[in-house]
Amino acid sequence: MRTIAVLNQKGGVGKTTSTVNMAAGLARMGKKVALIDMDPQAHLTIHLGVNPETAGAGIYEVLTKSVDINETLTEVRENLYLIGANINLVGAESELVSVVGREIILREAIETIRDNYDYLIIDCAPSLGLLTLNGLAAVNEVFIPLQPHFLALQGFGKLLQTVSLVSKRINPALRVSGILFCMYDKRVTLSSEVKADIENFLKNARETNTPWSDAAILPIFVRRNIKLAEAPSYGQTIFEYEPECNGSFDYEAIAEYVDKKMTKDGKHIKLPTEEIEEVADIEPTVEEITEEQVAEEVIAEQAAPQAVTEEIVEETIAEVEDTPQQTVNVPIVEVPAAPSVNTPREIETIVSNDLKTPGDSSNQM
Ligand SMILES: Nc1ncnc2c1ncn2[C@@H]1O[C@H](COP(=O)(O)OP(=O)(O)OP(=O)(O)O)[C@@H](O)[C@H]1O
Ligand SMILES: [Mg+2]
Repeated sequence: MRTIAVLNQKGGVGKTTSTVNMAAGLARMGKKVALIDMDPQAHLTIHLGVNPETAGAGIYEVLTKSVDINETLTEVRENLYLIGANINLVGAESELVSVVGREIILREAIETIRDNYDYLIIDCAPSLGLLTLNGLAAVNEVFIPLQPHFLALQGFGKLLQTVSLVSKRINPALRVSGILFCMYDKRVTLSSEVKADIENFLKNARETNTPWSDAAILPIFVRRNIKLAEAPSYGQTIFEYEPECNGSFDYEAIAEYVDKKMTKDGKHIKLPTEEIEEVADIEPTVEEITEEQVAEEVIAEQAAPQAVTEEIVEETIAEVEDTPQQTVNVPIVEVPAAPSVNTPREIETIVSNDLKTPGDSSNQM
């Protein structure tokens, strides 16, 4: 079973839309997919036409160990199963606060379903709290959806730092495998600038020991498409709501890519470097020196692995929970054509500053 967390602590970047429609695309290809709604907003659950108020046992009951995970899996479509978010999930983080081993409850629970599904995909909340931590502890892969507007990379460093922290202390198998551009508009210069920046960042990470060293930008960019925004209110996937629209075509192509190009024998495979480079079509737009420094720091950190003790886990949870909950849905606005408040270099500075914020305790491990 491939296990993927769809993660970005930024709100409204396309996590839920991508989870639902990529999963539906995979299910249509005959893959058996389990979905987990890890977000108290319950958007994934609602998007699939399930009412969180009347839904039965879901991820809350799994985390509180009151119901067996197998009993929470509901078949919502052919080949598509959901562990939903019901209203109890809102209180889960505080309820679990004194439970020992609370960050690996999900990881332990999914062991019993590992052989029953081809994919497990988790829709994370726009925060880096305990729920997200459970998601990251349970999976091997992270997909990061990005909306390429001028603040796209703000917080990106914190996001990677969290992944790095979890991979070092709780789940060594954790890797960022895919970056997914959502609401992409190639006519907008800024979209391609953000893309070039990420490409450059990933290129410089290739030879490092970071969890994102094999990450690839998926070569299918999800175009802005109003049908994708309308489908959730009908409780339908894009393939049900409007099979002949760009949204359907894009997510169908993404599902194909994820399954055919990124998987072998049910496992994630690293793409050959040439393929990544070809997809990336890299043109260096920033000074590489900063990136190298960041990479060196991360490598130096990783060179000294620590045993996972209860104390470290407590510390990790505290650090990860440091980021405030962000539940605001960003309205869909057209990005004006390149007023370029943030040039690639400025964006680069945001990322690198983010990665080494002075006083951030995660840099001092
Ligand atoms: N390609 C697209 N074109 C147009 N609208 C889109 C597209 N992708 C997502 N949307 C819309 O943008 C909004 C945010 O998307 P979505 O809910 O998937 O983001 P999210 O990252 O899950 O948000 P949150 O952080 O709140 O969980 C939704 O209203 C969604 O319908
Ligand atoms: Mg969401």
